[in-house]
This record gives sequence, C-alpha cells and structure tokens, in this order.
Amino acid sequence: MNDKDLLSQSIGWAVEREPVITRRFYEILFERYPQVRPLFGRNASDAQARMLQDAIVAALDHIEDGPWLTDTLGAIGAKHVSYGVTDEMYGWVGESLIASLAELCGDRWTDGHGAAWGRVYGSLTDLALAGAVRARAEANLPH
Ligand code: HEM
Repeated sequence: MNDKDLLSQSIGWAVEREPVITRRFYEILFERYPQVRPLFGRNASDAQARMLQDAIVAALDHIEDGPWLTDTLGAIGAKHVSYGVTDEMYGWVGESLIASLAELCGDRWTDGHGAAWGRVYGSLTDLALAGAVRARAEANLPH
C-alpha cells in the first residue's frame, strides 16, 4: 500500500472512533507540550480542531500536486509565524498527531502507518517551514 492509502485508511479507522479526530490530538499535544496552549487561546474549539483535520485531508487530496502543496503549505507556514509558532513545534505537533491516530486506530495500526505518516507530515512540515523562512525574512525577523 502506498503512503496516501495508508494515511487514508488510518484516518478512516480513526474517524469511526471519533468524528473530529484532532480533538484527541489537541489533548495529547497540550498534555505533552503545555507551553503551546496559550497560542490557541483565541479559538481553541471544535472549529479549530477541524481546521487541522481539514488541512490534512485537503493535502492528501493533492498529494501528487507539488505546486498546490508548495503554495498552500507555504502560506500556512507564513501565517503560523504570526501565531507565534516556532520551527521546533512542528515536531511536537507531528508526534502528537501520530500518537492520537495510533491510539484511535487501536490494534489495526501498524508500523507501516506510522512510517507513512512520518514521511508525509515531514514533507508538509518542510514546505510550511519554507513559507515561515520567507515570512520572517519579509518581516525582518530573525530566522
Ligand atoms: C504542517 C502542519 C500544520 C498544518 C497543516 C496546520 C494547519 C492549520 C490551519 C489550516 C489553520 C487555520 C487557519 C490558518 O492559519 O491557515 C491553523 C491554525 C493554527 N495553527 Fe496550525 N497547522 C500546522 C502546524 C501547526 C503547529 C506546529 C502549531 C504549533 C503549535 C500550530 C498552531 C496553530 C495555531 C496557534 C493556529 C491558530 C489558532 C487560532 O486561530 O486560535 N499549527 N493551522
């Protein structure tokens, strides 16, 4: 099975357990990295939880569309600079996202799912960070 199919399959299983899968993700993220909680002050709700889920599902739909991914993730990364998101937080978010999916998938989760998520989330992060570097350069912030 390719990465896209492994990701779609695991999302499908997770959604059976919890329709907004990212709710469990935020619980894990805030438990492991409480220092990120204040960043979500304005809008820490189901609506916010959906935004990440929808962004990931949209990225999966465009997994073979390099220009779309570069533009969209670059813009997300640039916007995240203004939220106070730092580069290291991407690793924390990835770890928490994969942990929440593994938990929701239960026995059906395999190492292959974890590896596929690691590769795809890593690629999305690289594109977002490229956008963050550009945004900091334009704002004359250190990078
Ligand atoms: C590749 C990884 C990520 C994706 C695809 C993603 C996606 C999104 C999207 C689509 C939004 C909503 C609107 C927007 O700003 O475009 C958002 C908001 C936000 N994200 Fe992310 N994000 C990612 C990584 C992160 C990381 C690492 C953090 C750090 C903790 C973070 C923190 C936030 C915050 C604080 C908001 C705003 C919440 C608010 O409105 O209160 N995100 N994200």
